[in-house]
Amino acid sequence: MKRILSGIKPTGAPHLGNYFGMMKPAIELQSQGEAYYFIADYHALTTVRDPQAMRDNTRGVALDFLACGLDPEKATIFRQSDVPEHTELAWILSCVTPMPMLENCHAYKDHVAKGKVPDHGLFAYPVLMAADILIYDSNIVPVGRDQKQHVEVTRDLASVMNRLYGKKEPLFVMPEASILPQVATVIGLDGQKMSKSYNNTVPLFEAEKPLRKKIMSIVTDSTPVEAPKDPANSSIVALYKLFASAADVEKMEADFRAGGQGYGVFKQRLFDALWEYFRPFREMREQLAADPGYVDSVLRAGAAKARAVAAKTMDRVRLATGLR
Ligand code: AMP
Ligand code: TRP
Repeated sequence: MKRILSGIKPTGAPHLGNYFGMMKPAIELQSQGEAYYFIADYHALTTVRDPQAMRDNTRGVALDFLACGLDPEKATIFRQSDVPEHTELAWILSCVTPMPMLENCHAYKDHVAKGKVPDHGLFAYPVLMAADILIYDSNIVPVGRDQKQHVEVTRDLASVMNRLYGKKEPLFVMPEASILPQVATVIGLDGQKMSKSYNNTVPLFEAEKPLRKKIMSIVTDSTPVEAPKDPANSSIVALYKLFASAADVEKMEADFRAGGQGYGVFKQRLFDALWEYFRPFREMREQLAADPGYVDSVLRAGAAKARAVAAKTMDRVRLATGLR
């Protein structure tokens, strides 16, 4: 049975990039193996410094994930910090991690390029992520493209550990990223990658009015209403493609090329389709939210299951490294 594992940071409301890049693939995989999905609160500490926001986001992200179809009967869902073994393994891995490997990582490099002073948490972020993955002997890691490099670092660290400590038997399983090409990078309202840090997101469970406003604010060029428009370079079409049927996409592309309709009309069509797509999830979310203890109880049960697995791996790692 394959082990599947992924994480999402509680840094704000999950958006279309999170959903199509990671949550939807993760939900689809939950019936194809033994799945572990967690809320990466340790990782979020690199940016979230408001304790109440951390608590609220952690529950919020878990609720959104459950509403979208994550099934606690099939997958183990938990909060990262409920399994402190992750940080113990991260330390052990960090002792064999060459600094240049981390200096080469995008998130750190971008931070430094912007002239900002990175803290150690940001620098060591990929090592903790490697620990998250390796501690569950994960085979498959469904993520968006921005996480590809981190999974590569994980594989490198697994190799180093296996070389050092796994002569008789490999200490760690070699994980593989699973990145769906069509949704590897979902673009945001401004045409850049959709990201909570760019303020260009479409949150999955935004209320109707602000959601419509966000969709209407998608950046477009100044082609006049009558003129034909290019569907290939349009953020409206790119977002519509994520969830509209092939026939509906073709129709929108044809209408773009025909001219005679302004971008506002297409945005409205996009909004309507989006609102309908998430309707069942919205209803499910309302139901789940009606029981205030539900999310906490799911996270608690998940933590117990995850911790048992992580503890076993750590016994093995402590023995192999001579800590025991
Ligand atoms: P984060 O919110 O950074 O924890 O991201 C959670 C998951 O969503 C990761 O697997 C990311 O790769 C994925 N993700 C975030 N933004 C996007 C995007 N714009 N397109 C595709 N996947 C994304
Ligand atoms: N770094 C990931 C992100 O920002 C979140 C994450 C933490 C993760 N640990 C993980 C994803 C382990 C997959 C596997 O999206």
